[in-house]
Amino acid sequence: MQTVTSIKNAKNRTPLTVITAYDALFASIFNNRTDMILVGDSLNMSFNKKPDTLSATLEIMIYHTNAVCKGAPDTFVICDMPFGTYTDEQKALKNASRVYQETDAHAVKIEGGIERAHIIKALTSNSIAVVGHIGLMPQYVRSEGGYKIRGKDEKDILKLIEDAKAVEKAGAFLLVLEGIKADATKRITEAVSIPTIGIGCGNATDGQVLVWSDMLGFFQEFQPKFVKKYLDGASVVEKAVDEYVKDVQNRDFPAQEHTY
Ligand code: KIV
Repeated sequence: MQTVTSIKNAKNRTPLTVITAYDALFASIFNNRTDMILVGDSLNMSFNKKPDTLSATLEIMIYHTNAVCKGAPDTFVICDMPFGTYTDEQKALKNASRVYQETDAHAVKIEGGIERAHIIKALTSNSIAVVGHIGLMPQYVRSEGGYKIRGKDEKDILKLIEDAKAVEKAGAFLLVLEGIKADATKRITEAVSIPTIGIGCGNATDGQVLVWSDMLGFFQEFQPKFVKKYLDGASVVEKAVDEYVKDVQNRDFPAQEHTY
């Protein structure tokens, strides 16, 4: 099982693999397969049909993180700190401590660059392992006026490099980069000594993360360009459920072998 130290040492080595999970059932399938599991607040959209991540609460994240830790006891688990739970150092420390005390998560993830460095520092100096997250930050959707690809010009690239360095200096051991142009991603990754994990950032990061329901084809609302669909999960399930309905209606199920 990965640790904070082994993850830090993975810089410039075999790319790290991360998948999201929200429940014990899928977490147990992913257990020991990827280096890390992220309990992302993206669950608010894929599990809860909400338009964004903003209404996910700490209670929701703790509930799902507990389920994932139960299902994947041999995998490094990261819990997303939801919107509004880390607006100042004291609040962040209180809420991240709850995650550590009420779940077996190994680390928490926080969105934000230089403006959040003091929050990251408050957690890391109190023995809480922090994953940073910069670039396209879903919790900033309203303040930014939408989801915008970052790193399109030199000014923004320099800002992102400054953000990455501030997050690293504050003590984060890993940095998620989301929705950043590939050449900018390469420069950010080279500018820090902690590993970067990309989503929608191309191939230059130290690892990749995908949302499980996107990559396994269960989330059907839309498919972003950066997602590779490894399974057509929804079609597989639809076909199976249709077959079950047909079997029941035809009295083909339960058969003799399913009967006491
Ligand atoms: O919430 C989430 O799933 C995430 C990933 C997209 C990195 O933050």
